Amino acid sequence: MNLKTLESRLQTVLEWVPYGIHADIGADHAYLLGNLLDQNRIAKGIAIEKNREPFELALRNLQKFQDRAEARLGDGLTPLKAGEVDSISICGMGAGLMVKILQAHAEKVPDQVIVQPNDSAEPLRRWAMQNMFHVKQETLTVGFWHYPVLHFQRAPGEDPVYQGLNLEVALRFGPWLLRRKDPFLLDYVQKQKKRLQNLANVSNPRVQQDLERVEMALRMLQ
Ligand SMILES: C[S@@+](CC[C@H](N)C(=O)[O-])C[C@H]1O[C@@H](n2cnc3c(N)ncnc32)[C@H](O)[C@@H]1O
Repeated sequence: MNLKTLESRLQTVLEWVPYGIHADIGADHAYLLGNLLDQNRIAKGIAIEKNREPFELALRNLQKFQDRAEARLGDGLTPLKAGEVDSISICGMGAGLMVKILQAHAEKVPDQVIVQPNDSAEPLRRWAMQNMFHVKQETLTVGFWHYPVLHFQRAPGEDPVYQGLNLEVALRFGPWLLRRKDPFLLDYVQKQKKRLQNLANVSNPRVQQDLERVEMALRMLQ
């Protein structure tokens, strides 16, 4: 296993994983866990894979860490016991699938959740808001496109990061990214505006509502 070449999206996840017992769901080759263990950033790592081929790859790649690592074959959080891990990561899938995985075993979701969806993070922000998690940090990483990475932390009450922001705009584009005036987000929102303006059905009320939100985001970012 080459431990030195994590893509920037996985490098960000690695830097945000807190010390403790960590499970990576959909671990594939287990590069993320391998690096976490190699750098002693976690006490123990559990790779979870639904498919046998990547599961066996993870098993092989984690062998050298002996009792500090395990690979388990199974769907989402099913192979975990409640309270067994301090944190989980889910990377490289669609946000909708990630939400399904989190909802399927709510009792097994630990206090720290780090996600890197391949598409819009909006469903994950909505999941967090409905399940008493706050957005601790979020960023856009450079890759084939700008992959979002989000760190959720279980916390009581309303998430203060949304205070004073238009909720729908913030859930869609990211409260921290808007507050920081993130340049990658600005680029994305400008492209969204052009895309919406060029739609044949631009006068459709839903497209108009989308355009309004995009323009609101642009006002915050510029
Ligand atoms: C595109 S790969 C991403 C691999 C790695 N996490 C990354 O970001 O580079 C998605 C992996 O998740 C696994 N997977 C998909 N759905 C899963 C589920 N419900 N439970 C566990 N693993 C799953 C797939 O087998 C595949 O290996």
